[in-house]
Amino acid sequence: MNQPLNVVKIEKSGNRFNAWDTDGVKRTSEITSVTRKKAFEGDYLLGEFVMKNGKHYWKKVANVETAAPVNDNTSPSVEVPSEHEEVLNFIHSSYSLKPVGLMMTELKWKYLIRSAVRGKNIMMTGPAGCGKTMAAKSLVNSLDRPDYYFNLGATQDPRSTLIGNTHFDSTKGTFFSKSLFVEAIQTPNAVILLDELSRAHPDAWNILMTVLDYGQRYLRLDEKDGSDTIKVAAGVTFVATANIGNEYTSTRVIDKALMDRFTIVEMDVLTEDDENSLLNYMFPNVDSNLLSNVAKIATLTRTESNSDTARINSGISTRTTVELCGLLYDGFSLEEAAEVSIYPQYDSTGGVDSERTFVKQIVQKFCDDGSSDDLFNEEEMAEAEGTDSK
Ligand SMILES: Nc1ncnc2c1ncn2[C@@H]1O[C@H](COP(=O)(O)OP(=O)(O)O)[C@@H](O)[C@H]1O
Ligand SMILES: [Mg+2]
Repeated sequence: MNQPLNVVKIEKSGNRFNAWDTDGVKRTSEITSVTRKKAFEGDYLLGEFVMKNGKHYWKKVANVETAAPVNDNTSPSVEVPSEHEEVLNFIHSSYSLKPVGLMMTELKWKYLIRSAVRGKNIMMTGPAGCGKTMAAKSLVNSLDRPDYYFNLGATQDPRSTLIGNTHFDSTKGTFFSKSLFVEAIQTPNAVILLDELSRAHPDAWNILMTVLDYGQRYLRLDEKDGSDTIKVAAGVTFVATANIGNEYTSTRVIDKALMDRFTIVEMDVLTEDDENSLLNYMFPNVDSNLLSNVAKIATLTRTESNSDTARINSGISTRTTVELCGLLYDGFSLEEAAEVSIYPQYDSTGGVDSERTFVKQIVQKFCDDGSSDDLFNEEEMAEAEGTDSK
């Protein structure tokens, strides 16, 4: 019989149910709160098992005194998981579905999967270039459901994209051709990506208002009251993205009523460590000191843009660091790569006080020999050597 890899006992602490294994290691985060609570209330232990596909899960085992897990055959409530248990297992083993190249915390990823599984409208928010579209597409890929992609930031005519067009034909007369979006919402269990919703025309927001409302879920084909409506099919999930960061410039502020129709999943801006890991993963052939300097530069600008006395509006995005490292890979120097990929994003008006000058100064500290440390300690070194630093 299958032996559990680990066995944990649940202890209540405040309103939390903690799981401790036989070595005294806390395993709480690996087990769903529902499973832990049930085990505590049912006064039984949980064992860790591996499924055929390699995923780990926790289920009831007999008490340690008997030193043997509950026999699967005599325990139908465990052997035949209820629908809820399947959902729980899917959510909590879903981290393995996240592509390695997408940097996102396990919690955020699971929350994303959970929201989709539970049929929520999801809005991924964060500054430009932090991985919203990438995460939304990865989610769609993980779900194995029919999917549709609409870039609302790129459409000039929301009505024809979301509803359709009226045509005239000399033989048929006027007729209406429905949009792909109409087909999408009528597809049961479809996952519909509404990319760049924050950049969409306000007409698009108005059209989507009833579609996204859990109590309405229909699309009106015409403004007129009493005109035809199309029902959103069962199980359809909407995943939208919105640039909501420090920079609002090219993004219209989304209507509050529309925002209220979404569960917000905020994409985190990467830490220096994560940025560094990502760049090393993507560019194994580029010198890792160079990559670590790029991560440092990006982090310095992000920290600066978030400070009270910020001299720049936004930090260098992960999209930009990835582009920049692509240039390094193709033999451009850090200085050259920064000049074409970073500086154009920063305002040069104001000369020495401009955003561009500020960012240039940060980059320059890391240029020359590719290592910042020597430069930072230039004066100290000069002092130690008894020479002038110039
Ligand atoms: N969190 C992240 N993990 C991995 N790559 C990222 C991440 N954020 C940004 N990138 C890189 O930047 C590019 C742009 O990301 P994207 O998802 O289009 O950003 P957004 O939609 O937030 O503007 C991606 O193709 C990827 O190379
Ligand atoms: Mg995007």
